[in-house]
Amino acid sequence: MKNVHLVDHPLLKHSLTILRDKNTGTEKFRHHAGIVSQIMILEAIKDVPLLEDKIETPVAASDGFYIKESIVFVPVLRAGISMLSPARNFLPWASVGFIGLERDEETAIAREYYRKFPQGLKDKRVLVLDPMLATGGSLVDTIIALEKKGAENICAVCIVAAPEGIELLQKKFPNLHIYLAAVDSFLNEKKYIVPGLGDFGDRFFGT
Ligand code: PRP
Ligand code: URA
Repeated sequence: MKNVHLVDHPLLKHSLTILRDKNTGTEKFRHHAGIVSQIMILEAIKDVPLLEDKIETPVAASDGFYIKESIVFVPVLRAGISMLSPARNFLPWASVGFIGLERDEETAIAREYYRKFPQGLKDKRVLVLDPMLATGGSLVDTIIALEKKGAENICAVCIVAAPEGIELLQKKFPNLHIYLAAVDSFLNEKKYIVPGLGDFGDRFFGT
């Protein structure tokens, strides 16, 4: 699958299994969602350009490297909030935009209820954070909204995806890079990912 990065790490598999387990309670779910998110974010920023600089260690002169690119995180409310804190632990200077989308329980079509993006998106790398990629509707809406605000360098960082969602994103945005921990089997009649992990937002927030 072009531009789909399926991340592989033993710790990711371990924590994702705990997220999938229906017996995992809120506290444990939050803990392992943090671990999975950290691994995913690390992978998604693997190719950010570095600026070389000379520094002095307490012992001697040394070459140094700094991340020069401006990064913006855009968590898709609500479930995307779970990935924001891990992301900002790595890149505390990154700015943050928000979009609130909620799927209708009958139609699975997302309704937007909130949007606030930083200025100057054109020159920034935007990481959209949403753990679940099901039909792809929420991410399509998010990316269209970001592109309207001028964003040109966008990638999606998710955790579990259904093939249907990946296909839709690839059709709409052929150059979009998508980072995933797992590609599951299919969507059920309620458009939930199978086997998936249920409703991520509800499990993370203890709703
Ligand atoms: C979930 C999830 C994604 C969306 C994925 O959000 O967090 O945003 O569904 O589904 P899609 O690919 O079919 O659009 P939900 O609408 O349940 O809202 P929540 O985050 O508030 O729980
Ligand atoms: N949103 C979720 O939280 N889980 C799914 O399986 C699909 C959408």
